[in-house]
Amino acid sequence: MNTSETPALTDSELKLLQALVYEECGMHFDERRTSFLQDRLHRRLKECQLDSFYSYYRLLISQKGKQELSCLLENLTVNETSFFRNKAQLELFQRDVLDSLLRRKQERRDYSVRIWSAGCSTGQEPYTMVMQVVEALSFHHLRNPLAPNAAVPKPLVPAPWRVEILASDINYSVLRAAQAASYSEHQMTGVDYGYRLRYFDKVGDRYAVKANVKQLVHFDFHNLKTEYLPQRNDIIFCRNVMMYFDEAEQKRLVEKFYRCLNPGGHLFVGHAESLLALTEKFQMVHRNNGTAYQRVEVKV
Ligand SMILES: C[S@@+](CC[C@H](N)C(=O)[O-])C[C@H]1O[C@@H](n2cnc3c(N)ncnc32)[C@H](O)[C@@H]1O
Repeated sequence: MNTSETPALTDSELKLLQALVYEECGMHFDERRTSFLQDRLHRRLKECQLDSFYSYYRLLISQKGKQELSCLLENLTVNETSFFRNKAQLELFQRDVLDSLLRRKQERRDYSVRIWSAGCSTGQEPYTMVMQVVEALSFHHLRNPLAPNAAVPKPLVPAPWRVEILASDINYSVLRAAQAASYSEHQMTGVDYGYRLRYFDKVGDRYAVKANVKQLVHFDFHNLKTEYLPQRNDIIFCRNVMMYFDEAEQKRLVEKFYRCLNPGGHLFVGHAESLLALTEKFQMVHRNNGTAYQRVEVKV
């Protein structure tokens, strides 16, 4: 084969590969997104120096093709994200959901807060969560002090509270960038100067997330298509991920999220996503233009 030419992708090969991607990660490529899928498949075929898409498919389903399969999936994910994305929704998160969560927890003497950012991309979402939880906790602590805090320097999370933010993605490259936690001026758009001063160090022309903030986030690989997902969360953020799945997969995912949340827990989805046609197990919560979904408890 002339290496400058890539072979044609037949309809049946495209269907096979589409079905494989769907089976592996839930991503669905309808007509509007087929050309994106075709483009990425051509690139991968060229990289692997194979002579047909059928051979590429055979490689992907073979034992030795595992690495190529995860590389293909990485090439197919859309990783667009930003700090403080969807401010109206984050206001609802900090002022209503977190505030009442902290009050309810303190009444029960349960001082742990666990939040999961599912589909965290390069980390801006989970680090935004940390900043918001720390601010909400400081405010809560001022009004409801538990123990005099003599520690110097003052910890981000006042004792006896414990905060755990789990952040996961299917794409190892974005997880590595999230762990590196170094952002350009452009990526910092949306982070006001108070936050920059408190939670970042300026390193050259970049902003590095401070070590004590990083410590609160645990990054991990999780494919949302699988059944084994992190349990006992108070809050789940899964924003701008479900929009790449079809309705059947969205319904399965929402059902899994229900089980991954503590009773009364909240799920936040993207601005263009909704649970309304997918489930009756969550009820919508509003504040201004912000929306979240709270787990409905079955009365026995
Ligand atoms: C558009 S980004 C959204 C990032 C962030 N949640 C936000 O709203 O700014 C979507 C992320 O979901 C991840 N993703 C897509 N399919 C996934 C799956 N099956 N399991 C886990 N993560 C997935 C992608 O790798 C990507 O980083």
